[in-house]
Amino acid sequence: MDNSLVLIENNDGFYTLTINRPDALNALNKGVFDALEAFFSEHKEDRDIKGVIITGAGSKAFVAGADIKEFSSLDAKGGAALSKRGQDVFFMIERFHAPVVAAVNGFALGGGCELSMSCHIRVAGSNAKFGQPEVNLGLVPGYGGSQRLVQLIGKGKALEMLLTADMIGAEEALRLGLVTHVVESGQETAKAMEILQKIATKGPLAVQQTIHLVNAYFDKTVDGFKKEYEDFGLTIGSEESKEGTAAFIEKRKAVFRK
Ligand code: CAA
Repeated sequence: MDNSLVLIENNDGFYTLTINRPDALNALNKGVFDALEAFFSEHKEDRDIKGVIITGAGSKAFVAGADIKEFSSLDAKGGAALSKRGQDVFFMIERFHAPVVAAVNGFALGGGCELSMSCHIRVAGSNAKFGQPEVNLGLVPGYGGSQRLVQLIGKGKALEMLLTADMIGAEEALRLGLVTHVVESGQETAKAMEILQKIATKGPLAVQQTIHLVNAYFDKTVDGFKKEYEDFGLTIGSEESKEGTAAFIEKRKAVFRK
């Protein structure tokens, strides 16, 4: 595996993953998917991880899409397999037990917009541009864009973006709820870290189960309300909720991580 395609930095349990193909505007090729898959499977059971930031190398692009240069040799079967593989890796991100924040520093197009949408939270730099331009190539989105864009911004605006291939800027993305913060360009990872540091002061099991519960809302095979009362029972029986409730009563800050 080529470890230079996704740079990994660990800062006391806060990981920053930087997609590192700036000459191709960080387009997602097979090597990038291999590296993302390896990271999220290696850390699947890692309870010391506090959060993950995903960003792109350079100041121009978060990720400008799937690598279009890998498309030319694909037939229908190969295309479906490529798309399914990308979806599977993005599900690993969406279902990860610790929070994942996209720090969007420039173009987030096609697979790049899709990667950001598989993250739990999105922070945009003021120069960020989001779009799903697949129809320009005679394609539909392949890494979940037709589903997650509707979930995040609603059917009407999602269809307009998907059908026109128009890009939207950071402020419009904020207005639509596609991102939750717009910061000065270059400050995306700092803002993402600030959010992760706040979440890291909360109960890790409660954080994990909250991520799973919100995902359950969109999973047609799961009864989210049932899962919520089950998870309420799970968390109330946990050591961390004993600490959280004791801290409240004793008028002190809860300490969830040793
Ligand atoms: N795949 C492969 N290479 C890409 C790329 C991509 N998605 N996006 C940019 N690049 C490469 C360019 O080919 C160029 O490389 P060369 O110098 O070797 O020619 C380099 O990155 C710089 O790009 P540009 O010269 O095009 O830069 P620009 O500033 O003129 O334009 C841009 C920037 C508007 C983002 C333009 O690069 C662009 O339109 N990129 C493609 C965006 C796109 O269509 N994304 C969707 C891909 S399909 C997809 O993602 C499907 C899916 O859901 C699975």
